[in-house]
Amino acid sequence: MLEDISAVFRSLEARDFRGLTGIEVGMKYHEWVPVEEVSRYTKIDEGELYYVLKNLGHRGLLKRQTQPYEGYRLYFEGYDLLALNALVKRGSLAAIGDELGVGKESVVYEGLREMVGGLGQQPVIIKFHREGRTSFKQVKRTREHLEGVQHFSWIYAARLAAKREFDVLQRLYPEVSVPEPVDHNRNVVVMAIAEGGELSKTKVLDPEWYLDTILEQMRLAYAMGVVHGDLSEFNIFVSDERVTLIDWPQYLEVEHNRAGELLERDVGNVLAFFKRKYGLEKDVEGVVGEIMG
Ligand SMILES: Nc1ncnc2c1ncn2[C@@H]1O[C@H](COP(=O)(O)OP(=O)(O)O)[C@@H](O)[C@H]1O
Ligand SMILES: [Mg+2]
Repeated sequence: MLEDISAVFRSLEARDFRGLTGIEVGMKYHEWVPVEEVSRYTKIDEGELYYVLKNLGHRGLLKRQTQPYEGYRLYFEGYDLLALNALVKRGSLAAIGDELGVGKESVVYEGLREMVGGLGQQPVIIKFHREGRTSFKQVKRTREHLEGVQHFSWIYAARLAAKREFDVLQRLYPEVSVPEPVDHNRNVVVMAIAEGGELSKTKVLDPEWYLDTILEQMRLAYAMGVVHGDLSEFNIFVSDERVTLIDWPQYLEVEHNRAGELLERDVGNVLAFFKRKYGLEKDVEGVVGEIMG
């Protein structure tokens, strides 16, 4: 990730974003976009374009090859900036803050957005999806949402994951306790910050209440047709008041033939954690049955 994404973001000019967009467009058709095509897409002549691309390269936003022809492709960071630019332009994002963490398949930043009606600024989470970083085979094996995809690129995988996550948050919020979705663009999702901290790192005083509340949220999601599919103490936030289930891109429809298996795994993860840390015991089969109603 960039050392300071907000500093890089602020320092880019309109023509830099045009350069990045030109390569993005070309990547639909080329692994390495020929420089002539970047020039054609951006309407920047090759002389000026040379400096634009060189600058973007120095900033770690794109990669250049010279053999067998001069061509360019974006790094994730270049794609991130295109998404940020779009989100800022349409008012979904006002500022980028510190990096909160690097997950398995994402990089997460704090941010701010302007609330409508001059109500001030609201802290938000900016989640940069990174799904295509692993090889396609690996991704395809573990990620049901890529089934049937012929033309693959990491851009496609990360963008699809962001869209899936945003869509399911919109579907579940507010009936299920998930972060309020704000907006998404390309591989980026903007959402509200979950209250409290990760269950894995928090010592709760009333573990029965938290376990019951988590299972109740899973039941509600199931009743709305959705199984999380990657639930564990790392994807559950807890505060004094509530639990919030995060990290949804791999969710499954309850009709999916693996939904039962993954629900059982989710329940198993949660129960194993409460048993290990708090000595609470519940039977997986029984709980799965309650969730499925
Ligand atoms: N809405 C949120 N509120 C607070 N923290 C979040 C939120 N979304 C993500 N995070 C933080 O970022 C980490 C990675 O995000 P997550 O959605 O779990 O993606 P990954 O697939 O990379 O695990 C989380 O473990 C959590 O610490
Ligand atoms: Mg996670």
